[in-house]
Amino acid sequence: MSAVFAQTEWTTPPDPPEFAAQSEPVFVSGSDIQEYKALPEYHEPDFVKAFVDAGKLPPVAERLPKEPLVFKTPNMPDGMGVYGDTMRHVIGGRPDGWNYIGGATQGWGGIDIGMYECLTRTGPLFQVKADELEPLPNLAKSWEWSEDGHELTMHLIEGAKWSDGEPFGADDVMFYWEDNVLDTNVAPTGGATPESFGEGTTLEKIDDATVKWTFKQAKPTQFLYAMAYGTFCPGPAHILKPQHPKYSENNYDQYKNAFPPEFLNFPVMGAWVPVEYRPDDVIVLRRNPYYWKVDENGNQLPYLNEVSYRLSTWADRDVQTIAGTADFSNLEQPENFVESLRRAAEETAPARLQFGARTIGYTLYPNLSGNGWGEPNELSQAVRELNRNIDFRKAITYAIDRKSLGESLVKGPFTTPYPGGLYAGTSFYDKDSTAFFGYDMEKAKEYLAKAGLEDTDGNGVVNFPSGTAGGQDVQITMLVNADYTTDKSLAEGVLAQMEALGIRVILDTVSGNSLAEYQQGGKYDWAILRNGSDLVSVVQGTAGLAPVGPRTAFSHRAGTDGTLDLMPFEQEMVDTVNKFIASADNAERADLMKTYQQIYTQNLYAIGLTQYPGALLINKRFANIPAGAPIFQFNWAEDNVIRERLYVPADKQTTNELHPNTLPNTPGVGNGPISN
Ligand code: GLA
Repeated sequence: MSAVFAQTEWTTPPDPPEFAAQSEPVFVSGSDIQEYKALPEYHEPDFVKAFVDAGKLPPVAERLPKEPLVFKTPNMPDGMGVYGDTMRHVIGGRPDGWNYIGGATQGWGGIDIGMYECLTRTGPLFQVKADELEPLPNLAKSWEWSEDGHELTMHLIEGAKWSDGEPFGADDVMFYWEDNVLDTNVAPTGGATPESFGEGTTLEKIDDATVKWTFKQAKPTQFLYAMAYGTFCPGPAHILKPQHPKYSENNYDQYKNAFPPEFLNFPVMGAWVPVEYRPDDVIVLRRNPYYWKVDENGNQLPYLNEVSYRLSTWADRDVQTIAGTADFSNLEQPENFVESLRRAAEETAPARLQFGARTIGYTLYPNLSGNGWGEPNELSQAVRELNRNIDFRKAITYAIDRKSLGESLVKGPFTTPYPGGLYAGTSFYDKDSTAFFGYDMEKAKEYLAKAGLEDTDGNGVVNFPSGTAGGQDVQITMLVNADYTTDKSLAEGVLAQMEALGIRVILDTVSGNSLAEYQQGGKYDWAILRNGSDLVSVVQGTAGLAPVGPRTAFSHRAGTDGTLDLMPFEQEMVDTVNKFIASADNAERADLMKTYQQIYTQNLYAIGLTQYPGALLINKRFANIPAGAPIFQFNWAEDNVIRERLYVPADKQTTNELHPNTLPNTPGVGNGPISN
């Protein structure tokens, strides 16, 4: 690996302040959690049975697949549950439709996680023994590799149905793959691209319950993680396909928006179906009568009849959960930590609060594409050239005072300066491979001059050299998510620190939904972003660790000609990540991640800001919450806690269900839930 500058410039990062996670998982094997088998009998809530008795629904045994997924009792912290009650969520996002695979978002906060099931599942892996780590089967109930490792045959759950009773099968999987992943006009929510599964990978249908993958690499078990949330969660082909541009007159935008939030009872494989939507108010989902998971007694899951999502703000999610008017929050905005801790410590507090490891982190991403991604104007193109200049990136990193940025969010032992790359405290992290550039304004200014930037007009902002962008002020547009207080606080902090350096930053503060569009469209100079699971787990979202494909990385994608203009150090990152994906040798993989971390942090691929822990807030009436469930690791807590298995003991049940005794109606605009 080529060192780009003298090693005296950085140190290893400071050790994070002591902050012990408040509960540890009970580590088990994947096969201790679940299995697939037929049971002698099946049960359902009485009110659902009444639909069957009235001839409005087939008997439960006919609604389930041949071999349902069975959650094993010993792995349920409180054992098998009882039916009833609801889980009230609050979210800061807004839905733009149900077509997840076509690129519509549902508002986050666990709505999509609860609606769309994926071939494999990784959220619950936080409790799986490290040496047995492998994604859990889900829609794919088993798989086997060919002798040479290039083929992977997957067996889907057989005889399972979508929530509207239509059969689920290989056609749904193939529609997702062929017309949504391979069709690059579609940008599936969750970010799947062909490269997420390896260059040259193919998928074919063998029969209704079997599909076969063929990989260029031998036994790339890594891709089993990409088959989990959110990159391989097929949608209902029976209603989506007729709207796809290949099979209709629709354009791609019309396809994406063909199922607006007003379209209710959208067919899902998940545990709950959307039955009510009120703009800026609420989304209500009722139990899926065709859900394909059961407990060992044959009780069809979920135990909870309903889940709802108040459409408010993310900060309000914490406030309401603490107050007991909502049931679930990932306490992830440090601005709310102190008050939440104080309230949760009171004996009468309705919610339990449990801090985990430091897996929430923010990074400043300079747009590294120099060849036209997002069609930059002259000024933006000049900024891109600067972004690609190591002296410029060094100037930025030296000018950032990470300690005060963190303390502006919350004081105390929570935040720690984050150099970028893999997080301290996670399994692939190596401190000695991490380059940290401590705050030093003198050096920052030296590097700015070295990058050719000087304040020629004496207005306090450096100018481009006279031949570039007319020698105007260096002015940088920074994309920021408007939905989170933390994102905005960090952006303000960075803006002020850049001002001190002599760089003008203009904030482009947009809603989460627009942010995704701007980001994927390359319409930004810099962006401040909360990181994904790739930097926590490495095995989840691995293709996002470097620009391994034309559109896998966050901050460097191909221009209009479809090619990437990788700098030599980025090429080294790509090679390292590709080797990681192809390797099954744990020692080699650990070494490769050390190399990755060195290249990332020494070359400042992106600029880390702060890293801190989050806490899981759940109302105390819920049972079966796994010990040590992190708010974010392989996935978000809404997947980690296995919501379909959560229940409320009979003596604690509330009357909070908004549509008691109802089930989803037929899919369509204006169709609410139905009562028997
Ligand atoms: C948002 C929230 C997270 C989590 C995810 C789930 O991003 O900020 O805490 O709820 O949604 O997708």
